[in-house]
Amino acid sequence: MRFDILTLFPAMFTGPLTESIIKRAIQRELIEINIHNIRDFATDRHRTTDDYPFGGGAGMVMKVEPLARCTEAVLAAASAPTPVVLLTPSGAVFTQHHARTWATQPRLTLVCGHYEGVDERYIERYVTDQISIGDFVLTGGELAAMVVVDAVSRLVPEVITADSLAAESHDAGLLEYPHYTRPAVWEERAVPEVLLSGHHANIEQWRHEQQLRRTFERRPDLLEQAELSAQDRELLRRWGWQG
Ligand code: ADE
Repeated sequence: MRFDILTLFPAMFTGPLTESIIKRAIQRELIEINIHNIRDFATDRHRTTDDYPFGGGAGMVMKVEPLARCTEAVLAAASAPTPVVLLTPSGAVFTQHHARTWATQPRLTLVCGHYEGVDERYIERYVTDQISIGDFVLTGGELAAMVVVDAVSRLVPEVITADSLAAESHDAGLLEYPHYTRPAVWEERAVPEVLLSGHHANIEQWRHEQQLRRTFERRPDLLEQAELSAQDRELLRRWGWQG
């Protein structure tokens, strides 16, 4: 899968995308990440990429022409069509559902917004999706783009083992169960008995109940969309769930 990232700060991407699983995925040619400096597509002497907002107001706006030229260059390299995703605090909140959808595509293009925003005409012309990584404001879209690349890449076939993907947070719409490893007792805290029992059905049952409990306590909003059995619902109601 090919990622293209359009940014004013290409150097920000060297650390996070050149370590660990992403680094190995690049080496194994499962993913390819191309960073494009928007400033390289500014044509004036000062290589300007932002300007004052029409109508006044605080802050600067990213100019349409350098962004459009940069995007045209990326699209021209097209091996396949690509979603063009703008990272912005005004976007829809990024979820595992987006990650799953984009991981099936041959390409993904990410545009890092900056300053007060991006000229709306660029968005109308090129952007297919506007995405925020949460209800908070970053200094720019770069960290958000890295989050998207990371979450999508690990779902690209062979990047991580199918086993690791099988039972994880948000998969059935529930949070993950707690994990333990040796030692069995640490500072008088024992690992839950059932995990040492070797009884697989009981272990599975216990883990599932833990998932329900945690989701109920921490993210009750997720229960509305989760796949719940009649038994799950009964258990949740016993804990006080009103659903
Ligand atoms: N740019 C600034 N804040 C952001 C956020 N929360 N998500 C995506 N891009 C952003």
